[in-house]
Amino acid sequence: MLVLVGLMGAGKTSIGKKLAESLKVGFLDADHEIELAAGMSIVEIFDKFGENYFRKGECKVIKRLIKLEPQILATGGGAFLSQEIRDIINLHGVSIWLKADLETLWERVSGNSNRPLLNELNPKLALEQLIETRYPVYNEADITIQSTEHISHATMVRKILHELKKKHIIY
Ligand code: S3P
Repeated sequence: MLVLVGLMGAGKTSIGKKLAESLKVGFLDADHEIELAAGMSIVEIFDKFGENYFRKGECKVIKRLIKLEPQILATGGGAFLSQEIRDIINLHGVSIWLKADLETLWERVSGNSNRPLLNELNPKLALEQLIETRYPVYNEADITIQSTEHISHATMVRKILHELKKKHIIY
């Protein structure tokens, strides 16, 4: 399983879908599967039950998905922060961090209200703080792909394929 990790706005879902297309494999989105399992949106889960409850569901869903036939799995930005989730990703897959800087991420997530963690007085500062706390952990991913402000999804996919070939994960 090729598992995409990284902050909100890094492009895990959109790049993941394109990567799946070019490798002719399926695509799974953990957040979407959590919503299906819960029968409500991520925002509603956070509102009604809180972040801890969401994290437990996230862990359960990723444990189930990772054992399906190898394909592309996009995870929510917080998933890789859990040691338990990192362990199962390491066991069953290859992790790929889509790394982007604050301005790039901000441009993509600002004005979007479907991310509870950015539902703050100063969402840009919240994002900056997440960069500080999370980047050392994302750095544990097997592969890091640097994204830039106007890089196309196609170029990102090419960079990922190049790294996967270099590491003999695909041929
Ligand atoms: C979260 C990221 C979101 C979603 C939830 C929590 C996070 O997913 O899982 O809002 O902790 O960074 P995306 O990274 O796909 O936006």
